[in-house]
Amino acid sequence: MEVKSVKERHSELAMHSVKFAKEEQRRRKGQEILFKWPDIEKQLGEHKHIYVVDARLGSNNHTHRLWYDVIPPHTEEGQEWRTLGHRHTVEAIIYFLKGHGHSIIDGVRYDWGPGDLLSVPMFSWHRHINDGDEPVLRIASTTGPLSLALGQAVYEDERYPEFWVYAQEGEEARKTLIPGGGSAESARVGNNRSAELYAEQVAFAMHEEQLRRKSKVLVKQKDLVFEPTAMGQLAYVVDPRIGFHSKALGVVMAEIPPGKRSGAHRHLYDEIDLIVGGAGRVIVEDKSFDFETLDVLSIPVFQWHQYFNTGSEPLRILAVNTRLAMDNLGLSLTHQGEKADYV
Ligand SMILES: [Fe+2]
Ligand SMILES: [Fe+2]
Repeated sequence: MEVKSVKERHSELAMHSVKFAKEEQRRRKGQEILFKWPDIEKQLGEHKHIYVVDARLGSNNHTHRLWYDVIPPHTEEGQEWRTLGHRHTVEAIIYFLKGHGHSIIDGVRYDWGPGDLLSVPMFSWHRHINDGDEPVLRIASTTGPLSLALGQAVYEDERYPEFWVYAQEGEEARKTLIPGGGSAESARVGNNRSAELYAEQVAFAMHEEQLRRKSKVLVKQKDLVFEPTAMGQLAYVVDPRIGFHSKALGVVMAEIPPGKRSGAHRHLYDEIDLIVGGAGRVIVEDKSFDFETLDVLSIPVFQWHQYFNTGSEPLRILAVNTRLAMDNLGLSLTHQGEKADYV
């Protein structure tokens, strides 16, 4: 067996960093991009919960995932939750395609129907209930892969308190992130700048939780406001600049009229698109894909992409991205290319 010297081994490791960007670009190029609704629908008939874009299924997207699921009439997601439901250290959005129901999030009721979207705050207790006579069809996207990659993933379920890490048992859990509290005052010892900085550190988690509970949760379809941008008509759906306390997951809805095209851009964050209405074509670098309503697109990181409406209806695309996570890590990059031809 070949024995490498320490010097050789370390220069190999240094070279690994140099080669990495190019290898990563190759992985992005090999990524599966288009997921067709008829295939998803067939699987949903059997399983009711189908992961579509997910690193565990070979996707090169490491920050978020998307799945489709169905909640049968007059039942609840997960079943048998009564009060708290479950919570997890991920940000999540849910977009409802069919059916009517309500969700309980940290004790507050939100009613929803087709075209509405929920932004479930990080670590809030939640349950989703189908109130109607027809199945609820929805997609959900979460930052689960990001939490797992960071080694910070926690999932607490009302039915399994023996696995709880943060909460005490019972109804009080709904109100308390850290039993015993964590105000700045409770942690203050001494009267100096360092004591103050440490007290602020202790208070930070509690303060963040308060901000999340004050933040916006439900977006009704009728309240979306489309405005012209370089990328075309866009409505920001979930963004901290419009009342959400999101730190990782952002959502925009794009609308392109028949025969028109969006702008082209590329960015250093993951994007998953749900085709909400209409039909079209997307160009991703040197490839193109034709898509229809309810198809899903996984746009690889830092690949140029542009959308064309090839149908006769307005094309609506719900784009779920992890731009905020990258912004907050200080790792954002967005390049605008050709502008949309209808604004
Ligand atoms: Fe959940
Ligand atoms: Fe994009």
